[in-house]
Amino acid sequence: MASSWILFAIYLLTSLTTPVNGTHQQYKRSELFKLGENASLSCINKTWNQIIYILWRVSMNGVNCSITKEAHGPVYSSCSNRVTLYNKTSGESQLHIAHFQLSDEGTYHCEVAYNHGNYLLMIAVNAIVSPVLSAQLYSNGSHRFAVCSAHGGKPAANVSWEVWWSSPTITVQVRSEADTSSNITAWLELPDNVTRGNISCIATHTSWLDRRSVTLNLNEKQPSNGMKCVLKCLLNMQTFFHTDIITASLVIVLLCTVGVTLGSGLLLLIATKFLYNMRKMRICSKSNLSQNTDSKSAQSQEVEEVEPYASYVQRVNSIYNSSADLYGS
Ligand SMILES: *[C@@H]1O[C@H](CO)[C@@H](O)[C@H](O)[C@H]1NC(C)=O
Ligand SMILES: *[C@@H]1O[C@H](CO)[C@@H](O)[C@H](O)[C@H]1NC(C)=O
Ligand SMILES: *[C@@H]1O[C@H](CO)[C@@H](O)[C@H](O)[C@H]1NC(C)=O
Ligand SMILES: *[C@@H]1O[C@H](CO)[C@@H](O)[C@H](O)[C@H]1NC(C)=O
Ligand SMILES: *[C@@H]1O[C@H](CO)[C@@H](O)[C@H](O)[C@H]1NC(C)=O
Ligand SMILES: *[C@@H]1O[C@H](CO)[C@@H](O)[C@H](O)[C@H]1NC(C)=O
Ligand SMILES: *[C@@H]1O[C@H](CO)[C@@H](O)[C@H](O)[C@H]1NC(C)=O
Ligand SMILES: *[C@@H]1O[C@H](CO)[C@@H](O)[C@H](O)[C@H]1NC(C)=O
Ligand SMILES: *[C@@H]1O[C@H](CO)[C@@H](O)[C@H](O)[C@H]1NC(C)=O
Repeated sequence: MASSWILFAIYLLTSLTTPVNGTHQQYKRSELFKLGENASLSCINKTWNQIIYILWRVSMNGVNCSITKEAHGPVYSSCSNRVTLYNKTSGESQLHIAHFQLSDEGTYHCEVAYNHGNYLLMIAVNAIVSPVLSAQLYSNGSHRFAVCSAHGGKPAANVSWEVWWSSPTITVQVRSEADTSSNITAWLELPDNVTRGNISCIATHTSWLDRRSVTLNLNEKQPSNGMKCVLKCLLNMQTFFHTDIITASLVIVLLCTVGVTLGSGLLLLIATKFLYNMRKMRICSKSNLSQNTDSKSAQSQEVEEVEPYASYVQRVNSIYNSSADLYGS
């Protein structure tokens, strides 16, 4: 017993002070586990009657812990009590992580001394997280795009578009988020002569057995050039104020209302003053009056231009809803 402890101490000392070289090879592996599942990590294909000791050193995001056991000795652990050593029925030792969580992601080093040598293994352990799929139409002013994204997934999903016309222009953007999840976006440029029909965004992910899809219906009325301009302004406002499209449109409607009210007030004031001056100067005001009515009809046109908005906002909303339906599935 005492001799094996000395052996253990000597081994620890040498393994910590000498770099990994030919005498004990380091092997690398990576493993993925679903959140909430029990995870098992194998280190070496040997049973306890060949093993002198096992040491697991775990380095998780900013937190280190270790768990060690000598044959016939107790287990020493500084890890969470969800992390345990257990014996497989075949006699091999494994590290067991109950209810795998995001915080368990990290590098798991296993060191084993056995009767004929020692063994080092480094396992990169990561969680599998399903992405959320969503699709919507977008216009940058001159071109229309169908945009599909799979965000929050680990590892990254595969995203593409299925369309009926040949050689579609698809650009895939891969973005890594701060939480190490990914945001994959597939931009499909819609040709000008494609204005109706259904297109599908197809995604595959490690966590899904089958591919999944979101369908966009292009049949809705496309926005006119004027609407495109307003929409672009709306989208800019949306990103500028970090708000949703409904709030942005409410703000625009508010601004327009205030603008129109102030504008007509000002016009009224000018007109009154003008008429007053006219009367004072006793000059016929027929031509000026017609000018005044012209500007009034321009105002009512402006108001009409704002109204179709509501219907467009509704449309965007319905897409949000349909993609939200997918979250649940
Ligand atoms: C374990 O080792 C034995 C021989 O020692 C070998 O036959 C067997 O295939 C190994 N199993 C694995 C899973 O590596
Ligand atoms: C954890 O261990 C790694 C090496 O495995 C080391 O670089 C790091 O400084 C340690 N972190 C803490 C907080 O002890
Ligand atoms: C696994 O086997 C070893 C050696 O026989 C024993 O010391 C240890 O208690 C066992 N561990 C568990 C969790 O049963
Ligand atoms: C996961 O591990 C825990 C504790 O080790 C155990 O109670 C539970 O039954 C295991 N669940 C599954 C699905 O194996
Ligand atoms: C819109 O997208 C097209 C195609 O990618 C590009 O050629 C064009 O410059 C973009 N227009 C604007 C205003 O960003
Ligand atoms: C994913 O990326 C796309 C394009 O880069 C962006 O429009 C979208 O907002 C991102 N989604 C999330 C949830 O960050
Ligand atoms: C769209 O127009 C292109 C030529 O600009 C043509 O090759 C293509 O077949 C048209 N697609 C459809 C769906 O009409
Ligand atoms: C598009 O999908 C809708 C249902 O979402 C369906 O009613 C319609 O027939 C489809 N149109 C085409 C051209 O496949
Ligand atoms: C994504 O696509 C690439 C190439 O088409 C393929 O090698 C890879 O296995 C795919 N990944 C998933 C998760 O389906």
